[in-house]
Amino acid sequence: MSFDLSVFSNKNIILAVTGGIAAYKSAILVRRLKDYGFNVRVVMTKGAQAFITPLTFQALSGNPVHSELLDPEAEAGMGHIELARWADLVLVAPASCDTLAKFAAGLADDLLSTLYLATKAPVWVAPAMNQQMWAAKPTQRNLNTLVEDGVHVIMPEAGSQACGDVGLGRMPEPEDLAEQVREYFHKAQRAIAEKFGLLAGKKVTITAGPTREAIDPVRYISNHSTGKMGFALAAACYSAGAKVTLIAGPVSLDTPNGVERKNVSSAMQMLDLSMQQLYDGCDIFIATAAVADYRVAEVSEHKIKKAGDELAVSLVKNPDIVATIAQQKQRPFMVGFAAETRNVEEYAAGKLVAKKLDMIACNDVSRADIGFASDQNAMTVFFADRYEMEKRDLEKASKQEIAQQLVEAIHDALEQQQPVV
Ligand code: C5P
Repeated sequence: MSFDLSVFSNKNIILAVTGGIAAYKSAILVRRLKDYGFNVRVVMTKGAQAFITPLTFQALSGNPVHSELLDPEAEAGMGHIELARWADLVLVAPASCDTLAKFAAGLADDLLSTLYLATKAPVWVAPAMNQQMWAAKPTQRNLNTLVEDGVHVIMPEAGSQACGDVGLGRMPEPEDLAEQVREYFHKAQRAIAEKFGLLAGKKVTITAGPTREAIDPVRYISNHSTGKMGFALAAACYSAGAKVTLIAGPVSLDTPNGVERKNVSSAMQMLDLSMQQLYDGCDIFIATAAVADYRVAEVSEHKIKKAGDELAVSLVKNPDIVATIAQQKQRPFMVGFAAETRNVEEYAAGKLVAKKLDMIACNDVSRADIGFASDQNAMTVFFADRYEMEKRDLEKASKQEIAQQLVEAIHDALEQQQPVV
């Protein structure tokens, strides 16, 4: 089977496993969902833990398993409400009779039933049970209620059952369930893109502006970046239908309409928030920030007093934010910027490879008419080898128009994205 591994890397699935012999199939289901690139977190009921251990799911999903409501430790990490918000889809497989009854009645006496009430995400249930229990009137009544409440019921299959009976009640094979989930997100993405724009439904993170590296409480090292390009891009991505988070260094610009802005000062803070964005879900990461390459090794607690004719400040290298994000396993589509004063294209293409980016936009800041503080820009965009497009020249235009062209370039590359190997 061939598929694009990266397409679903931003989609979060809660797989809820309840008590039933089919729980063993859910282990394979986690594998298949991960193969498709989904982020998977597993919630287990007490009943499920009698059939299979949380450790199995933890190892397969790469995430801690959630089973307790109001467990202080779990709530400190990702509590039940956060979990409910995190999910793009809640898939209950296998769904026991008891769970269906709880959902239908609106009970909230364990983690899963509470999560069901607290989530806005679509909920799918794959009932699996003895054929007689499936046919029982209360079960059918509960299923009807769930369908009326908007729950998607994946019908069980007929066949021989673990208890020896033959009839309806077997959970579909994990491959089929994973395929149905994949198909659902594919259709949803296509529908959104057709309706709302080039980056519809995408989560975009943009770093912008300079960083400030403190020397002491009143002084810092910084640069002349104004953040204009990053802010223009944030506006363009939002207009193209994306959900945009702008991680901004100290700049005096208004936050574009619809954009979530997070202010930072230093490079280390910018890195922290960027990593957080990955965790929250990010499809496209655009690094326009002029991050200070070095920070002061030891920031003085008090204002440094004038003494002597010379003062030496020792600097240490800052982490490369965009390269750090690009190294992550579930990485977004990575866009870098390069401002150069000579050998512009050669240096930019080198950075594209060295930082493992998908795309880099470079400009010549030695030209007085474009670049840092200017409202105009002209750029050449290079793409990684795995794209059919090699480079694209963006003619001198306002930063807003350049931003729009960059959005088109990102969209075109995403359309033909190959998995990163
Ligand atoms: O290596 P250079 O600073 O020229 O690379 C520029 C690109 O790398 C920009 O996209 C910039 O935002 C990003 N960068 C970064 N973290 C650093 C330095 C640069 O994300 N510490």
